[in-house]
Amino acid sequence: MPKATNVPIDAPLRRRVLIAGAGLGLTATACTRAAGPPHRGAPGPGSGSGPGRHGVRQAGVTTPRQATVLLLAYDLDPAVRGASGARALKEVLGAWTDALAETREADASQEARLTATVGVGPLLPARLGVSAPAALRELPSFPGDRLDPARCGGDVLVQLCADDSDTAEETAESLTRLAGETLRPRWRQSGFLPPSPDGGGTPRDLLGFKNGSANPSLEECERWVWSDDATYLVVRRIHLRVEDFARLAPHRQEEIVGRRRSTGGPLPGGPEHAEVDVFAKSPKGRYLTPARSHVGVVSSRHDDGARMLRRGYSYADGPTDQGLLFLAFMRDPALFTRVQRRMATRDELSGFTETRGSALAYVLPGAGPGRPLGAELLA
Ligand code: HEM
Repeated sequence: MPKATNVPIDAPLRRRVLIAGAGLGLTATACTRAAGPPHRGAPGPGSGSGPGRHGVRQAGVTTPRQATVLLLAYDLDPAVRGASGARALKEVLGAWTDALAETREADASQEARLTATVGVGPLLPARLGVSAPAALRELPSFPGDRLDPARCGGDVLVQLCADDSDTAEETAESLTRLAGETLRPRWRQSGFLPPSPDGGGTPRDLLGFKNGSANPSLEECERWVWSDDATYLVVRRIHLRVEDFARLAPHRQEEIVGRRRSTGGPLPGGPEHAEVDVFAKSPKGRYLTPARSHVGVVSSRHDDGARMLRRGYSYADGPTDQGLLFLAFMRDPALFTRVQRRMATRDELSGFTETRGSALAYVLPGAGPGRPLGAELLA
């Protein structure tokens, strides 16, 4: 079981204000590089529908990463199914929408920059007898996965991100309380960004490499991440053999990752955010980025340029289990399946990883005036 226990359903509210510092995604948030550093003091996501092209979207997708994440997965009460289940869930999502909006108004300063991002799992639509979003299907199994069912799946998934983990915890407590008997806690997982030795900039993972350098820009997110106002979230809890990796010489580590450890830039040179040309060869015909390196294998050049937005965190559940909480948003989870299949069979980094938890969620369009979360799905 995860180290952090589930919040009991009858947990008392510690505050009268339902949710402290919440910032529900009533916004089209800015995506400079979504995996960039936490920007303390930067304005939080605003509300409204943003410029032109789209309606209301949830925050926590293209929002710059806050310092901590708390993921909550819930299962629909087996006693409620079909139309009565849809009604019960509608009530919960309505209560969550109100509570989050109320708190956002109550805490306009957004000190903790909390965002709440709500999605539904692949088994939920059939349970409710509603039509499923086109690409919402269970992920296939992948070679090398060692999945613990107690850390996988869920009918409703919530990603809470904040610069202060207490704020996320309080919000989690409130949401779980409002979920009543309809949604039962299934698993939860917290994560963090390790302090960056070089101050700001792209946060590093527990292997010591910058993680998030090659993320899509805001414009590219329009094409590859959003599908109208929805998106999909892939969650993978990936145990890392940190000590074994740390024992390797730095140049060997770089060969395995396919980027430079110090700058995050491509191996042949260049700035951090320069794209890696995985097909470039030396005059002697050797790949400049090893073909079995992580970047060599997962590069979007192999996917006709299709991109995912990685917004990962590290996790540490005791001294023997630490790793990457891989969180990635994309308009079609088939991209994840393709990339993960390549990674499982060709990527040298896979020798240092073991995936123990996995989930997929359809991230609902954002709530707007008179339109709570889930309105389209449960209409
Ligand atoms: C096992 C844990 C993992 C670690 C430690 C890791 C680490 C990294 C690092 C250090 C980079 C280079 C910097 C960057 O662009 O962020 C990177 C890039 C990337 N990773 Fe991972 N990653 C992991 C798992 C995954 C998984 C499971 C996927 C998807 C199946 C994935 C997809 C990508 C993609 C698409 C890129 C950008 C490649 C490019 O176009 O340059 N990673 N990862």
